[in-house]
Amino acid sequence: MSAINAAITCVGGYVPDYVMTNKELEKIVDTTDEWITTRTGIKERRILKGEGKATSDMGAEVVKQICEKRGISPEEIDLILVATVTPDMPFPSTSNLICDKVGATNAWGYDLSAACSGFLYALVTGQRFIESGAYKKVIVVGADKMSSIINYEDRTTCIIFGDGAGGVLLEPTEENIGVMDSVLKSDGSGREYLNIKAGGSYKPSSIETIENKEHFVYQEGRSVFKFAVTNMADVAAEVMERNNLSSEDVDWLVPHQANLRIIDATRERAGLPEEKVMINIQKYGNTTAGTLPLCLWDWEKKLKKGDNLLLAAFGGGFTWGSVYLKWAYNA
Ligand code: UT7
Repeated sequence: MSAINAAITCVGGYVPDYVMTNKELEKIVDTTDEWITTRTGIKERRILKGEGKATSDMGAEVVKQICEKRGISPEEIDLILVATVTPDMPFPSTSNLICDKVGATNAWGYDLSAACSGFLYALVTGQRFIESGAYKKVIVVGADKMSSIINYEDRTTCIIFGDGAGGVLLEPTEENIGVMDSVLKSDGSGREYLNIKAGGSYKPSSIETIENKEHFVYQEGRSVFKFAVTNMADVAAEVMERNNLSSEDVDWLVPHQANLRIIDATRERAGLPEEKVMINIQKYGNTTAGTLPLCLWDWEKKLKKGDNLLLAAFGGGFTWGSVYLKWAYNA
């Protein structure tokens, strides 16, 4: 019997309609379009508006889109994995809610929390469920409503993040395509540089935590930047090396969209020209678990069967990793 590989056979994406520009942020905090553009590469980001609208609503749009594009019914989905740090509620899981909203009545699923590396962690988890032969249709979603955990009085974080969701369908194949290899890492000692302090079991919500604004993202940007530049580039290089991939062999670098300067450092380390790098940070900002599938969604039409893609991410935890995949279809 041939080995089973996990191939991405469809991509979906969703970004809210509301566009928050740098100009709008200039009116809210002490910043400028020029500073944001030169320090991060971001020009605008999307914000999910509307009472009761949450991460699961964006994820449900992604799953519905995947089902329509692939011509399958939601009842055929076996498993939905959702990478997010902004679940609708502590429980039930966002995956539970998405299954309900799309009518995936035969699926089970759960959420996975790994901040900006969440999509990679979930992709590799989904890959294993396919490779084991247990399931035939696994959807991996990366979705975050970052605006729900951002302090719009803090200019160091509010300029970076946006809302959005993307996802992929994994199906088995006996061809030599799909998710080929991965290296995933974590180091919880990074918690002091990037976190949300309250609202969990460590510091349950109280009037004091609200007054201290401890339910918002806290980031020591400069420190995170240093770790991100080194680790994202290192792990991508490690995956290239152990798969004997030269820079010529890599067709696309798909980097987490946190900062254009971090993306550039990773690209340079991998020896790749700018035209081989997927960059959409200028229009969506950092959507945390959403960045990588949103890149695949935006670039889907350009991808060809057999293309070598190198995905790389770094985020809170710290968590980081890189995945090598061979694209499975022509759009
Ligand atoms: O995706 C999860 C992982 N996260 C990341 O990868 C983010 C990594 N970090 C970064 O991308 C960058 O560190 C930031 C974009 C967050 C900040 O850029 P930076 O070049 O590292 O700026 P900085 O924090 O070193 O601040 C430089 C200066 C400071 O002023 P002083 O102390 O030099 O007078 C800040 O107060 O820029 C100031 N500053 C701003 N000025 C205008 C900080 N934020 C702003 C702002 N507008 N929005």
